[in-house]
Amino acid sequence: MRLSGLRRVFPGGVPVLEGMDLDITAGSFVALVGPSGCGKSTLLRLVAGLDWPDAGTLTFSPPLERTRGPRAPIAYVFQDAHLLPWRSVLDNAALPLELAGMPAPERRASARAMLEHVGLGEATSRFPAELSGGMRMRVSLARALVTRPRLLLLDEPFAALDELTRTRLDDQLRVLWRELGMTVLFVTHSLSEAAYLAERAVVLSRRPARVMLDRHLALPAERSPALRATPEFARELGQLHEALERGDAP
Ligand SMILES: Nc1ncnc2c1ncn2[C@@H]1O[C@H](COP(=O)(O)OP(=O)(O)OP(=O)(O)O)[C@@H](O)[C@H]1O
Ligand SMILES: [Mg+2]
Repeated sequence: MRLSGLRRVFPGGVPVLEGMDLDITAGSFVALVGPSGCGKSTLLRLVAGLDWPDAGTLTFSPPLERTRGPRAPIAYVFQDAHLLPWRSVLDNAALPLELAGMPAPERRASARAMLEHVGLGEATSRFPAELSGGMRMRVSLARALVTRPRLLLLDEPFAALDELTRTRLDDQLRVLWRELGMTVLFVTHSLSEAAYLAERAVVLSRRPARVMLDRHLALPAERSPALRATPEFARELGQLHEALERGDAP
């Protein structure tokens, strides 16, 4: 995916994005961090095709087929799980396949398999009100993955969760990424989450967002909680922190 000279200005405002260039290799896991209001969600929405740039181009190679059918090229996970309260976990996760016209037995089987992947195999007949926040986010993740997207966009998906739940979901997301092989673009405010999850971290400045640091993290492919206490991890965190400070200076 290549973003080239991307510009986005909302009416009456100063530019949010200006001359933004970014290349993302298929299958990679990229974390995007930056000060609040710098344009991260705006960038994600442009990539998802939910909004249009005022200048610049966004290209995918091979091109994304926006065909009808059960496979969606791009999936988006928001900060809130946005589940339908009157539907079971299974029918929430199966929703994108239902909208694509897949018959009930098939879509339920696919949704069930993905719910098992995220550790919710036992909760498929529950309703959202009966779930913890972490479980709801996992349903939301399963719903995004059920179409087997090529690109998964996550906008601070675990920000509202407690630290332990969040780090567990981080681990699950890494495992899913390695198993399923999609490209992941992950927005977070947490530098340690970015360093722990991603292969590459991009730090943005204040609005208009410029790339302050674009770094391949020198960390092992196998991540486990013990990594967080290592000097390598501390060094990466230090680099990200320094770039974030620099990009937030007036
Ligand atoms: N639809 C819109 N109309 C007008 N202004 C908008 C719109 N969407 C975003 N903005 C403005 O653009 C700027 C960037 O917003 P964006 O949501 O992309 O920031 P962000 O980096 O995701 O912030 P946060 O970390 O707080 O989520 C903000 O100042 C916001 O007010
Ligand atoms: Mg945002």
